[in-house]
Amino acid sequence: MPEISVTDRAGTTTSVPAKPGLSVMEIIRDGGFDELLALCGGSCSCATCHVIVAPEWIARVGAPNADENDLLDSSDHRTANSRLSCQIDFTPALDGLAVTIAPED
Ligand code: FES
Repeated sequence: MPEISVTDRAGTTTSVPAKPGLSVMEIIRDGGFDELLALCGGSCSCATCHVIVAPEWIARVGAPNADENDLLDSSDHRTANSRLSCQIDFTPALDGLAVTIAPED
């Protein structure tokens, strides 16, 4: 089973199983990370699923779409590698992806 590596707000990194077809938000949530609120359920309207993608992965993950980009602008913690995890579809090509849950806004 593919995995992704998730670093929580306390700085603890954990590998969680990642099923292709799920979003990275769903994978993190299913991995038991309560601090990723994902309040809108993945419809790109809340920004509470904000993650920072590790620099070595950002090229493969790609850039946010226009709606996601606007929503990320509302975060005080946006970085060059910020993405909304509900907008990243997990594929086998992302096996080993490393993300950090962004600080709460
Ligand atoms: S879960 Fe709301 S924007 Fe991602």
